[in-house]
Amino acid sequence: MDFDIFLVAPPGLETILADEAREKGFAVKGLNPGGVTLTGGWPEVWRANIELNGATRVLARIAEFRAFHLAQLDKRARKVDWAAALRPDVPVRVEATTKHSKIYHAKAAVQRIERAIHEELGAAISKDAPVQIKARIDDNLVTISVDTSGESLHKRGHKLFTGKAPIRETMAALFLRQAGFTGAEPLVDPMCGSGTFVIEAAEIALGLKPGRDRAFAFEHLASHDPDAVAVRNKAEAPITTNLRFYGFDRDAGAVKGATENAARAGVSGVTAFARAPLSELQRPEGPPGLVMVNPPYGGRIGDRKPLFSLYGALGQVLRDRFKGWRVGIVTNDGGLAKATGLPLLPPGPPVAHGGLKVKLYRTGSL
Ligand SMILES: C[S@@+](CC[C@H](N)C(=O)[O-])C[C@H]1O[C@@H](n2cnc3c(N)ncnc32)[C@H](O)[C@@H]1O
Repeated sequence: MDFDIFLVAPPGLETILADEAREKGFAVKGLNPGGVTLTGGWPEVWRANIELNGATRVLARIAEFRAFHLAQLDKRARKVDWAAALRPDVPVRVEATTKHSKIYHAKAAVQRIERAIHEELGAAISKDAPVQIKARIDDNLVTISVDTSGESLHKRGHKLFTGKAPIRETMAALFLRQAGFTGAEPLVDPMCGSGTFVIEAAEIALGLKPGRDRAFAFEHLASHDPDAVAVRNKAEAPITTNLRFYGFDRDAGAVKGATENAARAGVSGVTAFARAPLSELQRPEGPPGLVMVNPPYGGRIGDRKPLFSLYGALGQVLRDRFKGWRVGIVTNDGGLAKATGLPLLPPGPPVAHGGLKVKLYRTGSL
């Protein structure tokens, strides 16, 4: 039986995630602030976790009912078919939010739902449980979902070195898609830090599934079928194997860390990292592609003034040496983006990132 599957997305990038989901064969039902709703069953839940580069987490909606007071919540929570999703031998924890509802005390709601699960299904309730139930009470409508991901999906299991201000893998993948990257062109990140854009790009090009090397909460659910999931885990046919994805940084530690991250991700064969300040950046041999960069932010690392010359130098180097390439710049500061002097298209919507709002500024072919 099909149900709603909610993909959590960074606010501002919902449409890009919906595009990815459609392209990968999911039935997109609608967009909401902070996510995308699909329709599907457990196989789609597994596949969404394993195959979507851009989703932050995947929630399976297992029940929905009205509750105007706690006794009603208690009664209706006991009627939920918990056994269809949860296992009695696997501990569970519950988290609740409430908004515009008569039940306004989230903790009391959590307590009722936990008690219902414990008494009706027999599962233990524990703070460190591998499975989490998310209850949302909005306008007296209670929506019960299972978090099928566990750890946030940006944790692919490869990036042990994170550097100073890493971008999340999920967000990097969505920005790459927003910049028109499909895996069929080379990529250069001249300030690569931990190598996120380069590694994500290489994985997309090689058809490697983002969830191939990690564990998921869905493995602890009643619906889990290890054989079915093993098949899903197989790599897709690569889009390309003869393109290269390059990362440069002036910081030797970043280059070493990015190289190690790429090796752990299994993409060393198509990636190359080298220590180089921006001034020494050279266009790689071969066809033009995409320069994707996330330079130091205004107001986060260092202050803004020296950044004007850095962004200016970036624009100059790209205009002089990267004819025919497109550029994508992720930054929180439109003034700095403008200081590149590049012919920027209207930017994408603001996206929350570690306390900042960043946007993708991109160009057509230079
Ligand atoms: C915001 S971080 C990039 C983070 C990266 N996207 C990641 O996911 O890890 C900016 C990077 O720019 C590098 N950088 C700053 N000035 C540079 C320059 N002049 N030439 C090359 N790299 C530079 C820093 O060393 C830092 O790693």
